[in-house]
Amino acid sequence: PAKIKTAFFCQNCGYESSKWMGQCPSCHEWNTMVEEMVKPEPKNKRASLGSGISGTTSSAAISPKALSEIELGQEDRSDTHIGELNRVLGGGLVRGSLTLVGGDPGIGKSTLLLQVARNMSDDGHSILYISGEESLRQIKLRANRIGEFTDNLKFLCETNLSTIESVITKDKPEIVIIDSIQTMFNEDVTSAPGSVSQVRETTAVLLRIAKSMNVSIFIVGHVTKEGTVAGPRVLEHMVDTVLYFEGDRHASYRILRGVKNRFGSTNEIGVFEMREDGLAEVQNPSEFMLDGRPEDASGSIVTCSIEGTRPILLEIQALVCRTSFGFPRRQANGTDYNRVNLLMAVLEKRVGLQMADCDAYVNLAGGMKLQEPALDLGICLAVISSFKNKPIDSSVVAFGEVGLSGEVRSVSMTEQRVMEAKKLGFKTIILPKAYESKLKDTKGLDIIGVSSLQDAMRIF
Ligand code: TYD
Ligand code: MG
Repeated sequence: PAKIKTAFFCQNCGYESSKWMGQCPSCHEWNTMVEEMVKPEPKNKRASLGSGISGTTSSAAISPKALSEIELGQEDRSDTHIGELNRVLGGGLVRGSLTLVGGDPGIGKSTLLLQVARNMSDDGHSILYISGEESLRQIKLRANRIGEFTDNLKFLCETNLSTIESVITKDKPEIVIIDSIQTMFNEDVTSAPGSVSQVRETTAVLLRIAKSMNVSIFIVGHVTKEGTVAGPRVLEHMVDTVLYFEGDRHASYRILRGVKNRFGSTNEIGVFEMREDGLAEVQNPSEFMLDGRPEDASGSIVTCSIEGTRPILLEIQALVCRTSFGFPRRQANGTDYNRVNLLMAVLEKRVGLQMADCDAYVNLAGGMKLQEPALDLGICLAVISSFKNKPIDSSVVAFGEVGLSGEVRSVSMTEQRVMEAKKLGFKTIILPKAYESKLKDTKGLDIIGVSSLQDAMRIF
């Protein structure tokens, strides 16, 4: 008999090594290497992605094609009836695609997919929802919160991949939901469910099913830092589309972010709110993010960030206060800590703000996580406002990148940002000087173009 071979896999990124290591050399996580059994790969077992025929064609019949010989046809897309999801998918669900929906446990992945299943089954699509995590009763309890369901949607509690494959072959559903990949197991692989080799081999089988039977498959993957469950990052390169569901578990809104999409743009986000009866779309995130903003408080200003193609207004808060112990604290919530430190240094050097003996905290209100350089000007103004204890008028929006010399540089999509601010009733817009004269429709708006931080000080 063949000797059983083992190897060590990083449970975070899938890195394979013949010996154990404390730190993964690929993703630098500690204590993530776990020993798993590996079977020698049988030859010719790779799935072919051609037109759905798996690798049985003899090599004589295979010939490469020129681009002009490939017929394109219309991509077969279906409406999920969730606008925010359609947007992230690039205009609907593509037939035969494999989509990974990742996120922390409890963030709402199962709820989202159940709602997708309901909407699409109402449209007449046949859908199979396979759960390895919850019993049929638990699913029904959740479904009762969401609403009415038609019989086009079928449920199955199963974790054995070969059973799942035979059910799909028999029932031929158009859409399959696998909840979650960490609970599924493939009998051909000896290691435990949730291990890197299981997750990878199971996904490979699902990929073959999706392409050969032209079924759209959603895979749910939990992201956890614990060593026992393989992070879905291992599968990112295998699937067509990767969506991450994120958000503060204490806040009600959730953001669905596309990080990979073979059928569309990846920088779109969808915004949802978790309600009593499931997830609701948030059509106007700016309004949502600005809800509950304090009036006339120092250290607060509204800025505009672009997420994908969509402008989002949100409040930046800063708090600068005297350090009670020798070493000043700096903290950034929701944005890049190093960037905030850099901006503080620029403020000290170029504007002369003496903050060496001050603690400074910067927070993006609402729990959003954004990194765009266009936030710089807003962060600086919020810090100045708190330092000087002078509130900025609540009808002001400011955006622009700040350079090391304190210069305010132009950013992309200025027009859209201004329009969004106008739409929400803001009156004064502070933006990079370079763009001031290029704006077209500024009626009713007070546009203040600034070329540097010193220049921006005049608003105080
Ligand atoms: P769930 O979809 O089970 O998360 P995941 O599949 O990502 O682990 O969502 C779980 C949370 O959502 C749970 O804390 C309850 C909450 N929830 C609502 O607030 N409203 C609802 O209608 C539903 C179904 C769940
Ligand atoms: Mg779930």
